[in-house]
Amino acid sequence: MSITYLENSGIISIDTKSSTYQMRIGQHGFLQHLYYGSRIGHEDMSYLYRDYDRACAGNPDDVYPSRRISFDTMPQEYPGYGVGDFRVNAISVRNADGSYGADFRYVGHEIIKGKYSFEGLPSSYDAAGDAETLSVTVRDNVTGLTLELLYGVFEDEDIITRAVRFKNDSDKEMLLERAFSVSLDIPYGKWDLIHFHGKHTLERQVEREELTHLVKVVESKRGTSSHQENPFVILADRAADEDHGSCIGMMLVYSGGFRAETELDQLGSTRLIMGIQDDQFEWHLGPGEVFEAPEVIMSYSCDGFSRLSHNYHRFIRNNVCRGKYKLAERPVLINNWEATYFDFDDEKILALADEAASLGIEMLVLDDGWFGKRNSDDSGLGDWYVNESKIRCGLKSLIEQVNKKGLKFGIWIEPEMINEDSDLYREHPEWAFAMPGRKPVRSRNQLVLDMTRPDVIEYLYGCIEKLLTENNIEYVKWDMNRSLSDVYSNATGPERQGEVLHRYILGIYELMDRICTNFSDILIEGCSGGGARFDAGILCYSPQIWCSDDTDPIHRLIIQYGTAFGYPVSAVGAHVSASPNHQTRRSTPLHTRAVVAMSGTFGYELDPGKLSDDEKAEIREQISLFKKHCGLIHSGLYYRLTKIKEDFYEAWEFVSEDGSEALLNVVVTDPQPNSPLMNIKLKGLDPDGVYVLNDESMSKHVYAEAHNPEGEERTQISGDALMNGGYTLPWLAGDYPAAQVYFVLESK
Ligand code: DGJ
Repeated sequence: MSITYLENSGIISIDTKSSTYQMRIGQHGFLQHLYYGSRIGHEDMSYLYRDYDRACAGNPDDVYPSRRISFDTMPQEYPGYGVGDFRVNAISVRNADGSYGADFRYVGHEIIKGKYSFEGLPSSYDAAGDAETLSVTVRDNVTGLTLELLYGVFEDEDIITRAVRFKNDSDKEMLLERAFSVSLDIPYGKWDLIHFHGKHTLERQVEREELTHLVKVVESKRGTSSHQENPFVILADRAADEDHGSCIGMMLVYSGGFRAETELDQLGSTRLIMGIQDDQFEWHLGPGEVFEAPEVIMSYSCDGFSRLSHNYHRFIRNNVCRGKYKLAERPVLINNWEATYFDFDDEKILALADEAASLGIEMLVLDDGWFGKRNSDDSGLGDWYVNESKIRCGLKSLIEQVNKKGLKFGIWIEPEMINEDSDLYREHPEWAFAMPGRKPVRSRNQLVLDMTRPDVIEYLYGCIEKLLTENNIEYVKWDMNRSLSDVYSNATGPERQGEVLHRYILGIYELMDRICTNFSDILIEGCSGGGARFDAGILCYSPQIWCSDDTDPIHRLIIQYGTAFGYPVSAVGAHVSASPNHQTRRSTPLHTRAVVAMSGTFGYELDPGKLSDDEKAEIREQISLFKKHCGLIHSGLYYRLTKIKEDFYEAWEFVSEDGSEALLNVVVTDPQPNSPLMNIKLKGLDPDGVYVLNDESMSKHVYAEAHNPEGEERTQISGDALMNGGYTLPWLAGDYPAAQVYFVLESK
């Protein structure tokens, strides 16, 4: 039993393998938060608190004459609104009489076997059949607004999910102006906030900020989870690092705008709230109606960030991703985007397929430009039928020819978008978002389809169904290339426009869900101008997401480092592209590009016809090396061995959970004259075991001959030596060299 209720004290405890989360049903029905931290057995943690008369802190009427109990200072599971808690608020509700009050008191709770699920929103699921749900009901007794606070407990995974159902138990409509998924009060400690900011072509960079009394906001107002921030934050003890210290992660399972806020309050208590972005949000909750706020995946680690990342990686792979490919080896693909952009025809694609097949590549992905009259990015979106002036042999025949060469076939679509120069727009201009009297902002020459409309969803489903039924397509790249503006639905009355942004996301989920259900063998790769929708919502439908449009390996080190704080390497779409790189014009060795792309789904995005025979031979080796190690890379434990940009090289490692093998990866980002040696301490090995080293795959490309070290090259080293003394790499010379060293446990 991971959830226990102690009736005498009103304590509800949630235990996972190494954490405890505790709340108390206090006097007058206050639902107080007591503790979230290392596992502590069944101690009643209420001794941690002392209530004092705080002079300027107000008191609810029913505690009179006590002046010690105040919403202003009480740690709460889910705070009310407008009744004396002045910290950042998880809810804002306008009642039928125009008042803004909500004072939630405990009504009841249930402990249920299995994991709760939602109607229209994706969420994690109970893969092993051992999850439990805690459902706590609290109610505002004046208005009848009732909240079901949901806690999904995954004991072995050290994960607790949280979500809220808002129910109107009255006979009058109320208006939710903010309906967040979570609020967490942490009464003590000095905390930092870690968030993942970025831009198009440099997503998810790590920033660590000391929490001060200023409210901090991490958000996207773009209608997507965004390049600029990610719906994942970490609260870290000020002393926490990769291997030590407390940290708490919160990841929203949602692909639209979001907001997380932290506040260090007047008495040193920290509150973290998270949910759907509410600037343009209003939800009419009619009598008896329910609004579901998306799930937050929460984890606690007492051993720093590595353990926290491992918890998220395992959980996302096993309990968020679905379908045939969630744990399966993914095909090594070639994508034609950076090889051709819009300039291709069937002959070019078949030539690319010939080359790719001869290199050992397993799938060809036809990117943007194959449909409608799409010769540039100003036309065609919406017309999901083949562009016969480019694919003259027809799509079916092209795919058959590609298949005959031994390659699977994948295709790019961008269903949520429309160009004004398209048959679809000429027929249905009212299907695009546009505010009355205003010309909508174009972004990449495109407008946004109104995904709140059932006729739009039906049209898109029909197009995709036809495409997938008539052709042997085994992979779909689902792109989405702009932020949402001019959000206004012609199918919705003026009073409900505040619901459109959220209903847009529900529309996408409905469409993706139908496709995943009816075409369950297809591998979907999410994408949004690179990584603008890299979130756990999308991962419920597609086990991999194109991580960034920046394929420069030196930038990718930064992007993939930040991404892997929360998301598993198996979800990170990564390709080897041409050199000089198309985004940065930087030149890097083919070998280095492969080492970086291997820490992802792995594939190519270049024209192999332009490569030399030596480069082609190297690619063949890369593919067989990746296939040898991809199990370890995708399901092993991932360790960051350097802190990004702190040294002249970056190092990271994959170790199998049983410690039997490990792969060390190193890239020199700032080659040094008279170089200091790179001594790297490995992690996660068996201290009593002896490891055999194998650097055959890499050394010939990078070790400077002039700098070959004197002395013994040790090939067997014990686990405890590698973890405590470390491994000292040879001097790597040249432009951005890289190395991979493979360690196999030989004996104990
Ligand atoms: C943005 C994606 O991130 C790219 O990989 C490519 O698919 C283009 N869109 C095509 O328009």
